[in-house]
Amino acid sequence: MTSTRSAVQTLDQEFVFPTYARAPVVFVRGEGVFLFDENGKQYLDFLSGIAVNALGHNHPRIVSTITDQARKILHVCNLYHNEYQAALAQTLCRLSGLDSVFFCNSGTEAVEAALKAARIRAYRNSNGQANPKVEVVALLDSFHGRTCGALSLTGQEKYRKPFEPLIPGVHFIPRNDIDALHAAVTDKTCAVILEPIQGESGIQVLDAAFLKAARAACDDHNAMLVFDEVQCGLGRTGKFFAFQHTDVQPDLVAVAKPLGLGIPMGALLGVKKVREDLALGTHGSTFGGGPLACRVSLEFFQIMEEQGLLEKVASQGQYFSGRLAELRARHPAVQEIRGKGLMIGMQLSSSGKEIVRQMLDRGYVINCANETVLRFLPPYLIEREHIDRLIDALDQVLPH
Ligand SMILES: Cc1ncc(COP(=O)(O)O)c(C=O)c1O
Repeated sequence: MTSTRSAVQTLDQEFVFPTYARAPVVFVRGEGVFLFDENGKQYLDFLSGIAVNALGHNHPRIVSTITDQARKILHVCNLYHNEYQAALAQTLCRLSGLDSVFFCNSGTEAVEAALKAARIRAYRNSNGQANPKVEVVALLDSFHGRTCGALSLTGQEKYRKPFEPLIPGVHFIPRNDIDALHAAVTDKTCAVILEPIQGESGIQVLDAAFLKAARAACDDHNAMLVFDEVQCGLGRTGKFFAFQHTDVQPDLVAVAKPLGLGIPMGALLGVKKVREDLALGTHGSTFGGGPLACRVSLEFFQIMEEQGLLEKVASQGQYFSGRLAELRARHPAVQEIRGKGLMIGMQLSSSGKEIVRQMLDRGYVINCANETVLRFLPPYLIEREHIDRLIDALDQVLPH
């Protein structure tokens, strides 16, 4: 199979639906925080496959876990037990303070499971009558995924419009607007869904007071508080869950991205009462919670805990944000630095696309969210020397 760039691009153009605007690079190998293209050019990875490769690339313990498991057994369907699923569920519950887990294959699927979990409670109590509690409150500028359910909760016109009508009864409110929250949440609300740090809309950190108000509104109206931690969860902010920076405890949490470190995997975590709702036969997945993904994920959490990586994420994040703030002082196009841990956005006054392209030319993988925000999601193993190199390159590329 040929791997030259132009051959790959030609095949892609002919045979793959054109849903992505891809940069003209073919990555063929990774090593730690570095990526290599088909010509052997080295890149520093400050994107981690959009928050997936939390331990970088080719991690020796993850490679040996995967190869060992491949020799044993790759797939066991959910009609039987495998050795790792329940142990991983126990770990996720210990780390989150929640009680039960449903395993799936992506962030979108975890959000879908949350929507179903929120919907079914009132149905079970409605004696076969129309479900009175089907409305959801979500945020403008949110992103929860691309299936029709998750898209229905996503407050961005550009993604929704071509597919409307979507699921009715979803009310979108501005982030951090407590008055709008109080007006939107009623007894018909089954769920309020929030990303504690919005990723796709350009790294927007929600106020702790807003999360607290959402908790109270859900309690007042018997609705589920759902946190979508698909992008901000699992160590990225310096805590295992972004909500742990506050004292708010959700009913449901969706996670994915780094959960399987590149083996596709998602999970919905829920409090005890959800066990009655997601009961026998209410939901399922052929691949969800398979032995390969679960074993890799257990190894991920073991490495995180053994090596104190949460502390490392917090301290490298602080250093990184400080260095980015220095650029703000020198470049008027930089308006704000936002984020927590190693989930950082640089708000620009105009499009960041050309900067992303120029950084790629120089051997740095970064990304632009919501048009004007440079997004940095490096592996948790990033060192200060790598951050310094990125800062020097950005200093040259940002307009003076
Ligand atoms: C907050 C959030 N939720 C859900 C999703 C969808 O996840 P996936 O692409 O794994 O389906 C994403 C993806 O970027 C996300 O950032």
